Amino acid sequence: MKKIIAVDGPAGAGKSTVSKIVAARLGYTYIDTGAMYRAVALKCNEELGIGNWERNEDLMAEVLRNVDIKLDESGKVFLDGREVTKEIRTPEVSRGASDVAKSGIVRKRLTELQRDMARLGKVIMDGRDIGTQVLPNADLKIFLTASVEERARRRFDELKAKGLTVDLAQIEKEISLRDKQDSEREIAPLAQAEDAVLLDSTSLTIEEVVEKILQLAKEN
Ligand code: DC
Repeated sequence: MKKIIAVDGPAGAGKSTVSKIVAARLGYTYIDTGAMYRAVALKCNEELGIGNWERNEDLMAEVLRNVDIKLDESGKVFLDGREVTKEIRTPEVSRGASDVAKSGIVRKRLTELQRDMARLGKVIMDGRDIGTQVLPNADLKIFLTASVEERARRRFDELKAKGLTVDLAQIEKEISLRDKQDSEREIAPLAQAEDAVLLDSTSLTIEEVVEKILQLAKEN
């Protein structure tokens, strides 16, 4: 059985949904690295104010000096001991997370934390740079993707189910923009590791993707 599984891919490909299920089936710990970037962004927003820190690495470094981020087994996220699971999903925090994700100082610190979390094995970690930077020696690397149209449609359905009025074309535009930002950033951009297995989920169900990963995890 593969002890350390890395799952990378663009926003909306289904990484967290399938990683959570795979973790539950294998009895592994799921580590959502995006939530860690989001927690740093929330702290920057709260301590420095939105708009005051986004291009200033010195300010981010200051905030990072005493940040405490914890993820628990049930998927709850804690920032300095306070639960922020819901707060880190707002649009302001999403925007901030993409700013903190560009900072070399933030990436270095979070990468160290993430490696530490994976040290004991039996983990499935998802993000953008797990197979390439964080855990280059992972036993199994998955690059999970789907077409922009499909990812936009899934997000649209999700928001609609929450009772929100949304515009599909607008969502598609936002997803394309995030893809571009994540793939073109200088440090640790979104990229498929050479030894990663490419899984295109465009026409697969969640269960089919889960099954495929479980099968790969069980191979020797
Ligand atoms: O997966 P997500 O939407 O929760 O990620 C939030 C932001 O953090 C997004 O802009 C991509 C970035 N990120 C990253 O740069 N590296 C990771 N390993 C995980 C997320």
